[in-house]
Amino acid sequence: MTRAVDVVVIGAGVAGLSTALGLAATREVLLLSAGDGSTPWAQGGVAAAYGEDDPLDHLLDTDVAGAGFCDPRNVRALVEEGPQRLAELIAQGARFDRNADGSLSRTLEGGHGHPRIVHAGGDATGAEVHRALRSAVQLAGVQTITGRTVGLIQSDTGRIGGVLVEAGGQISQIDARAVVLATGGIGNAYLASTNPSTVCGDGIALALRAGASLVDMEFVQFHPTALFTGETSGQLPLVTEAVRGEGAVLRDIHGRRIMAGRHPRADLAPRDIVAREIEATMRRDGSDHVWLDATAIAPDVLRQRFPTVLASCARIGVDLLSEQIPIAPAEHFLCGGIRTDRNGATDVPGLYAAGEVAATGVHGANRLASNSLLEGLVFGRRVATALTLDLPPTVQGRSHEVALGHDREPERIRAILTKYAGIRRDGAGLNAAGEELEALGNGPLATVARSVIEAATARQESRGCHWRSDYPRSDERWNEHVVVRLDEEDRP
Ligand code: SIN
Repeated sequence: MTRAVDVVVIGAGVAGLSTALGLAATREVLLLSAGDGSTPWAQGGVAAAYGEDDPLDHLLDTDVAGAGFCDPRNVRALVEEGPQRLAELIAQGARFDRNADGSLSRTLEGGHGHPRIVHAGGDATGAEVHRALRSAVQLAGVQTITGRTVGLIQSDTGRIGGVLVEAGGQISQIDARAVVLATGGIGNAYLASTNPSTVCGDGIALALRAGASLVDMEFVQFHPTALFTGETSGQLPLVTEAVRGEGAVLRDIHGRRIMAGRHPRADLAPRDIVAREIEATMRRDGSDHVWLDATAIAPDVLRQRFPTVLASCARIGVDLLSEQIPIAPAEHFLCGGIRTDRNGATDVPGLYAAGEVAATGVHGANRLASNSLLEGLVFGRRVATALTLDLPPTVQGRSHEVALGHDREPERIRAILTKYAGIRRDGAGLNAAGEELEALGNGPLATVARSVIEAATARQESRGCHWRSDYPRSDERWNEHVVVRLDEEDRP
């Protein structure tokens, strides 16, 4: 069965929903998703500078966290357009937490010099953002299909002209003048992640096969504080940085402060630095976790601000109010991805990307906390505006399919990436990973894993969340981006 629309948006997280909503009034848009992505799991909030807070300070914090590797023009778009997108979200019905005087309550997280993070339901911001956007999308009459996108339709001249979707056991073709990838990150390419298992890098694999360039794939961010449940695979519960924003501190298994004296912002240093210190502490002590101590925070504040974290802790039998809780870093966010311009256009005509799957350069080498929901709101809208103004032409002539394929041994791929491309990497391990992946075919996870390994092998320095123990310093000879592309003969 074949049908045709103007735009197909793949992914129903904050970026996909924002794109679809922005297009609903002007274009026939179809939203495809295999799940809700990471958005509903986001806890901390949405960073946005307004009032007495200056977007320029937000820009500077973003750039410092990004280890000076951000694209300043795109960060400017992020911080300047962010407050307006937030105001629209509130007008669409999103309910953020407020102070007694009715103003928005704002908190701190790592890397922020100013409390600029708005939150909802205490620590359930992503769920509220998702609920509000989803109902706005429904109200706007956007058609949605739940299913996995298993291929792209590409003309022999390279233009994208639609998708193949598998839903209810059937594969159908949907023709479109533009396809927007908003498929999120690559959590499921690692054994353990804060992402749900549907977040597996399909958009990255499809884009690469269609001829798009990936950039900054070595910058995989590890959240410093996932709850240590004893599980070493699957989705791990997040413990939002906002707990540290309210005063919690990290301690080693002997009770000593980990971050004191390690950075001027101590426990609120950018998250790559905190994750690295935790990893080094665990390695030194031979432990599989460290402690997060929130016992100095008033119980009423903890109950009100962190109901989700409290419930996750209760599930493993620990009490955030009265005891230290066990935490360890876990894969969390891909700072790089499919290279796009400021309006989401990739190198492939007709193919766009928004949100975590895209690399606009706003995160540099390490994303600032709570800039991810913001990115989805801002860049989802930018893609929608671009496609409202200028929809690509309908594909003419012969077309072929760019198929996603299947992985033969997904667990092995996850184990390889986890072992060799975690917080700490080195050349010998990365080479071993490259060799082991050779034998594992060209399925989507293998493709994603190879692109991370290729980029991490190439970057012979440490910067942001790419830490090479064999090249422990930043090196200005590496002030350039690593681009990953498939050679013509490796493409379908
Ligand atoms: C958190 O709440 O710590 C996560 C938010 C983010 O990833 O920015």
